[in-house]
Amino acid sequence: MANNNVQKVVVITGASSGIGAATAEALAKAGAKLVLGARRLDKLQAVAARVLELGGQAEVMVCDVGRREQVKALLALAQSRFGRVDVAIANAGFGFVARVHDTTDEQMEEIWRVNLLGTWYVLAEAAPLMLKQRQGHIIAVSSVVARRGLPGMGPYCMTKAGQLSLVEAMRVELRGSGVYVSSVHPGYTQTEFFQQVSRRSGSTVRGGGKMQSADVVAQKIASLVERPRPELWPLKMLRWATLLTAMLPGISDAAIAKSMRPRGRLS
Ligand SMILES: NC(=O)c1ccc[n+]([C@@H]2O[C@H](COP(=O)([O-])OP(=O)(O)OC[C@H]3O[C@@H](n4cnc5c(N)ncnc54)[C@H](OP(=O)(O)O)[C@@H]3O)[C@@H](O)[C@H]2O)c1
Repeated sequence: MANNNVQKVVVITGASSGIGAATAEALAKAGAKLVLGARRLDKLQAVAARVLELGGQAEVMVCDVGRREQVKALLALAQSRFGRVDVAIANAGFGFVARVHDTTDEQMEEIWRVNLLGTWYVLAEAAPLMLKQRQGHIIAVSSVVARRGLPGMGPYCMTKAGQLSLVEAMRVELRGSGVYVSSVHPGYTQTEFFQQVSRRSGSTVRGGGKMQSADVVAQKIASLVERPRPELWPLKMLRWATLLTAMLPGISDAAIAKSMRPRGRLS
């Protein structure tokens, strides 16, 4: 990461593991000032300790992104501790496996609240602060599935598509204001994600396709922080694949149905 990122104040949700924690560490190497939120305080404290070792600074706060006041408090902590918010990364999220018509009201409401409302809270609370500063960068960690629904993961894919729609709209709404808005579209990444999916789904669920490490994805997010652009696809070939699936939906359906056998294997 280039020197112009040194001292950037970066707020990250879902920073207690996986992509969020790795991104905190990647940014810490350039001396960033981090404000880290998630629900597991012990894990956040461990990430903060690594950030310090790597040369960054970190504050942590318990933050359930499904609660707007907690997202607001996380951003306020960055302001009170470091004086501003340069970058806000809406990363917190989870998934589960269920067919669309089998999904319960509770499952749908929770994923909608955490993945979609939680992202919107970051966007909606960070934007006014950044507009006042006349600069800032808001990043939403979406997924490759933002552009293609997968069987068994419909509600999750819905939230990822929704994140992309919010980001696309907001980027144009804030054009010229000094505030930039980006989305990140990881493919299968080695994190706690699939453990959580398995736990919630009651059976072992594995990701499919080429797997990236959280560190690789985090390095790419650090480069996005350095050089804002509309979308980051850590595995570029997946971007082209999703464009093809949009152009050829019938053929894509057949290919996805075939590649997702045996059951329990995603993407
Ligand atoms: N891994 C993949 O293959 C993959 C692919 C594409 C996109 N993504 C996306 O990448 C993002 C990060 O996931 P990951 O892969 O790094 O998985 P992970 O290791 O399970 O991390 C998820 C993070 O979200 C936090 N979180 C969950 N619910 C939360 C809530 N209600 N409030 C605040 N934080 C919450 C978790 O912390 P606590 O439990 O401590 O709250 C954790 O820090 C997610 O948005 C996911 O959809 C992942």
